[in-house]
Amino acid sequence: MTMSSPPISSTLAIPRASDMPQHVAIIMDGNGRWATARRLPRAAGHVKGVDRVREIVNACLQHGIGNLTLFAFSSENWRRPKDEVSLLMRLFIGVLQREVERLREHGVRLRVIGDVSRFEPRLQELIAEAQRQTGASDRLVLTVAANYGGRWDILNGFRRMLRDHPELAQDVDAIDESKLLPYLAMHDAPEPDLFIRTGGEQRVSNFLLWQLAYTELYFTDTFWPDFTSEEFDRAIASYRMRERRFGRTSAQAEETP
Ligand code: IPE
Ligand code: IPE
Ligand code: MG
Repeated sequence: MTMSSPPISSTLAIPRASDMPQHVAIIMDGNGRWATARRLPRAAGHVKGVDRVREIVNACLQHGIGNLTLFAFSSENWRRPKDEVSLLMRLFIGVLQREVERLREHGVRLRVIGDVSRFEPRLQELIAEAQRQTGASDRLVLTVAANYGGRWDILNGFRRMLRDHPELAQDVDAIDESKLLPYLAMHDAPEPDLFIRTGGEQRVSNFLLWQLAYTELYFTDTFWPDFTSEEFDRAIASYRMRERRFGRTSAQAEETP
């Protein structure tokens, strides 16, 4: 099961590459362009995008994928027009109010990573409540990155590590990956095997910078509201064609995948 085996750092040891990704991380991009192409307000794309979240969560449950991480709102998305930001917040609140019970029934544990302290108190409470309600589930860990930034995660991790271990500030050479790892947002999940970005852009946009070190990247032009489970299967099929070498030669990777 997902949470029982301790996660392995891909730069410290060679993780076992399995046929099916154990962790998929997705930048759900293209909602606005999907709507604009249909002469709809951008909000319509975000609303439609929620249907795809449901569909992809179900696909992960069917495939036995233990971790799904979705980028819902980046630390840079505050730069958007106020109306769009508040629509996204309302959508988030609505989803938490409506879907949590269903997630629990399906064995999905929800958790949110990112600096939630900037959200309005009601949303913060709903997030805490949703995490509590689904805390015992273990079929799928659904991580939603909200007000998340990869750089924030690393900096925040460093600060928390030094707060707990002030002695490390006097002995900086003793700071290694294993000291920092427990303080990163995704510390208890395996590193993503597969990263998907919909919407045509080929960039990481400050998503899981640390964790994507050896992740297989998949980009598609399909806008998120059109990203069905069939599209998801195509991404998985692409993943299965990859040879994950983790720095080794091809011959070595074939010998011990
Ligand atoms: C992704 O879709 C959703 C969020 C960033 C919240 P966009 O809103 O970025 O859609 P495009 O990229 O403008 O089409
Ligand atoms: C990345 O999408 C963030 C989310 C999907 C939540 P953006 O649409 O904000 O990314 P950029 O700004 O085009 O790189
Ligand atoms: Mg975008």
